[in-house]
Amino acid sequence: MPHKHNPAYTHFRGNKISRVELIERMVVETILKSKMPNEKRSWGKIFEIKHSSSVIQIGRILAQKRGLDEEISAIVCALHDIHVNHNGDAKNHAQVGATLAEKILKKTKKFTAKEIKIIMNAVKEHSNKHLVSKDPYVELVKDADAFDCTLYVNTHDAYVYEKSPEVCRTYFDRVIRIRKELGLPHDKQWDTIDYINK
Ligand SMILES: [Fe+2]
Repeated sequence: MPHKHNPAYTHFRGNKISRVELIERMVVETILKSKMPNEKRSWGKIFEIKHSSSVIQIGRILAQKRGLDEEISAIVCALHDIHVNHNGDAKNHAQVGATLAEKILKKTKKFTAKEIKIIMNAVKEHSNKHLVSKDPYVELVKDADAFDCTLYVNTHDAYVYEKSPEVCRTYFDRVIRIRKELGLPHDKQWDTIDYINK
């Protein structure tokens, strides 16, 4: 017997989905369809799918807490690594990704010029996590991105390896701030910029 779909929720199927669902679906499809093999990708497709999905949900939670537009927040988060999702390369991906995000949003014909500008700018700025922006959507995606990364195993030391001590400190201060905002217990690993697993 064919399965009967729940009429109240699309589960990302069909063409009656909302514009945020459309973008979310498109991001997953971009990763799945990307021709760059896993070995040559900066991060790998599984991480990309997991990370983009969880950053979207964290973005929704932060948007609710901060009284920001939840839909725009989710779309910014969905598209933040779109360049990596498209060709696997994380180098300079925020800047290049902003142009790709604009192209995608324009193609749907579902977004205003003002919305596209907000989304593009947040994608473009999201890697500048050592800076604090006055644009709340820029800060939201930086926070959701950084916080999600800290929920995987051993990312503390990965940051220490990857970043200068000064930049690392600003990242970890951001993580401490978000954890506090979300009411999570203080996690002392973020107090130090030295390796935890020597
Ligand atoms: Fe990124």
